[in-house]
Amino acid sequence: MRLSVIGCGYLGAVHAAAMASIGHDVIGIDVDEQKVSALAAGSAPFFEPRLSELLAEGLRSGRLRFSSRMADAAGAQVHFLAVGTPQIPGGHAADLHYVHAALDGLLPHLRAGDVVAGKSTVPVGTAAGLAGRVAAAGAALVWNPEFLREGWAVHDTLTPDRLVVGAEADAAGERAVGVLREVYASSIDAGTPFLVTDLATAELVKGAANAFLATKISFINAMAEIAEASGADVALLADALGHDTRIGRRYLGAGIGFGGGCLPKDIRAFTARAEELGRGEAVGFLREVDAINLRRRDRAVQIVVDALGGLVFGRRIAVLGAAFKPFSDDIRDSPALDVAVRLRGLGADVVVTDPAALDNAAALHPQLDYARSRDDALREADAVVVVTEWDEYRRDLSPEHAGALVRGRIIVDGRNCLDSAAWRAAGWQYHGMGRR
Ligand code: UDX
Repeated sequence: MRLSVIGCGYLGAVHAAAMASIGHDVIGIDVDEQKVSALAAGSAPFFEPRLSELLAEGLRSGRLRFSSRMADAAGAQVHFLAVGTPQIPGGHAADLHYVHAALDGLLPHLRAGDVVAGKSTVPVGTAAGLAGRVAAAGAALVWNPEFLREGWAVHDTLTPDRLVVGAEADAAGERAVGVLREVYASSIDAGTPFLVTDLATAELVKGAANAFLATKISFINAMAEIAEASGADVALLADALGHDTRIGRRYLGAGIGFGGGCLPKDIRAFTARAEELGRGEAVGFLREVDAINLRRRDRAVQIVVDALGGLVFGRRIAVLGAAFKPFSDDIRDSPALDVAVRLRGLGADVVVTDPAALDNAAALHPQLDYARSRDDALREADAVVVVTEWDEYRRDLSPEHAGALVRGRIIVDGRNCLDSAAWRAAGWQYHGMGRR
């Protein structure tokens, strides 16, 4: 099928490449000419495992193209809207102006029978407000939220847990759902559940999923606070809770909390929309989820300060990690960098390292020092803080190797990802988050 993907940021670039890899003929469109030329040359503008291979394969086969001209979307049967919906400056609500601009640009190129499929994360009610304009062009609007995780984006797009399509309950809506079924036929044949809903429910599924995941993480981080006060161990607690199949172990990783371009902004936008609907009370707990999450960053800093006997000024601290999570170079709302910045603010001599996100971090926080190699960061450190659980730190760094480089054997495991017994046995003072 011929598809267009409007917006080639994180979501759009991956979606375009993945759709081409399953045999569709795809044109990715973005207003940013630099991004378009990079993608057209096969280079991903961000770090994402497997994306470069998919781009190369798509470009080579001729099934994948990129353009900065909206007119090139003409002729596609389905137009995916995959533009960003950032937090409005100074507020919590989602900024929808990219969605409106994308639709305005696309409308003149729509043909009767085309389907516009919104993928961007939008406040519930947005699609209903756009549907009339799409219908006036003889096309139909569906909402098809995306649940991909960074670092797993290709995997999640090609083998999603579920596909959700929201449509209007009329003949055009039904037809449009059928077209989406065709787009995703290979996933559906492989057994992926395909759920058809109304437009509002489809929008809400995305907001609710992110709110639930954020709540799960903050729940275990709240338990970490209790564990810290009572001498319990939150990692053992999470294991024991996780065996209850109604709860499950995933997203019960206590540490310095969630960050990134989605969960923090999405729970705030979700709350803002609920307030607009007069139902702020229903999601009042999400403010608490946000607050618990941010408190973990303070707590990590406090643990470092205490471990250094209250004196951090001029002490050298190796910060292992800058990305908001491993397998990503994304530093948006990264708890890892936040901890580094706060320690620097206290006068510590902070050296940050990260296998993928160093350039992004240096551009945003030039006041920090950076080391390309992990070992350079560790050299002469008075304390080490692990804030992103990259394999380089979690799996490949031995306490003996690190011990030979540092000045002080103090390690703060902000992600509870290290073997505490092994580090202690090697003579380190080990501090986890909510751990004994
Ligand atoms: C998230 C959702 O998972 C995804 O479905 C949605 O489409 C976009 O938002 P992403 O932002 O890529 O994806 O990251 P995710 O892997 O969910 O992690 C989010 C943050 O939570 C990271 O900072 C991670 O370190 C943190 N996290 C995750 C925890 O602190 N503990 C956990 O147990 C899991």
